Amino acid sequence: MKRIVAVALSLVMAISLVAGIGADVFAAEKTVINFAAQGDSTPATQAVIDAFNASQEEYEAVWVDMTNDSGAMRTQLINSLKAGSDEYDVISMDVVWAGEFAAAGYIAALDGFMRDNDLSIRDYNQGSMSAGKYDGKQFALPFFPDLGVLYVRKDIVSEDELAMLESGEYTWADVLDLAVQYKGEAETVDGFVYQSKQYEGLVCNFNEFSDNWRDIAGGLEAMKNLQDAGAAPENILVYTEGETANSFIKGDSVFARNWPYQWGAIASEGEITQDQVAIAPLPMGGTVGGWLLGVNANSSNQDGALALISFITGPEGQKIMSMEGGYLPGFNAVLEDEEVIESNLLLSMPGFLNALETTISRPVAEDYAAVSDELQQAVHGYLAGDTELEDAVAAVEEALAKAEPFEYADEEE
Ligand code: GLC
Repeated sequence: MKRIVAVALSLVMAISLVAGIGADVFAAEKTVINFAAQGDSTPATQAVIDAFNASQEEYEAVWVDMTNDSGAMRTQLINSLKAGSDEYDVISMDVVWAGEFAAAGYIAALDGFMRDNDLSIRDYNQGSMSAGKYDGKQFALPFFPDLGVLYVRKDIVSEDELAMLESGEYTWADVLDLAVQYKGEAETVDGFVYQSKQYEGLVCNFNEFSDNWRDIAGGLEAMKNLQDAGAAPENILVYTEGETANSFIKGDSVFARNWPYQWGAIASEGEITQDQVAIAPLPMGGTVGGWLLGVNANSSNQDGALALISFITGPEGQKIMSMEGGYLPGFNAVLEDEEVIESNLLLSMPGFLNALETTISRPVAEDYAAVSDELQQAVHGYLAGDTELEDAVAAVEEALAKAEPFEYADEEE
């Protein structure tokens, strides 16, 4: 009897083993590609991942949703990459630290992949590509380029004011006046919202307020004046892009400084509609930003990682990012795609086109994160009322001295 039971048992086991193997063969499990990307307040990132997963049989991309704070995300990624971990296959990187990742050997060069696929540097957004280049090699491709712009409630300001803003011929003092004047209209509670928390976003904003670091005292005063005049919310010192977008798309503020994706967020989550909004260049230019995609040098799925990058940064993926999220396409041909132009109105708005003409950069430094930290502390300290103007100016200058000197092409203008 025992023997019969034993035989029966091993038969059952054998059958389940065969069934198991059979299931594997037929369901052809996809290889998981872990994609470390920042949170997205638009449906675009999820949509592009879904489209990739639907496009082929071999891989399944999974979004590892990271923090939205650039500096914090950098630290999180470095902790993993430094330890040689392969937990992320594809990583999204801010343009300001992609070079550092390449130099540290965390990401793999993409030149071979580009050659094999007939891709040229000229196919992509130029600024993003130079940010992803290191030691003569291309290490990253554009997820999306960014630039700072002014969002305006055109249903609130006058036609003349709108024309002035869209032309870019105005000052930060004008924004302050208009914000104070219109705050409270059409159920708004705030005049102007932007990013003043102590983090990377503050460096971007201060770049814009200080005329690309030409007028540090003027920039500090312009930001302080907004606070003192009540043009900005009382808690502006904790505002990141998230708080900014939240306020503007809910209809709580008249003006907002943010990146292009806020346009997409109005459509997907807004309590106001896109036809109530216009985009204008910032008075002294908008900071260039953006995110790039690279392959973890230690990924055990190099081919899958490349397949995902190729899809997201290529025409199909960039079209989805632009149509679903209002992102600026990083693959140049998409800028001319009829469907994209029709659905992403941003790309044909006069104020946005003007903004594209006046972009400004952050400092470039070997240890950018350290320079950025010092800048953030100096500016935030002054805005919080902890330091005097001249000490803050000196601290900003000291931090800048650790970066490469700025080269201004338009000095004489
Ligand atoms: C945006 C920009 C990025 C910048 C960050 C600051 O994500 O694309 O370049 O560093 O904002 O918060």
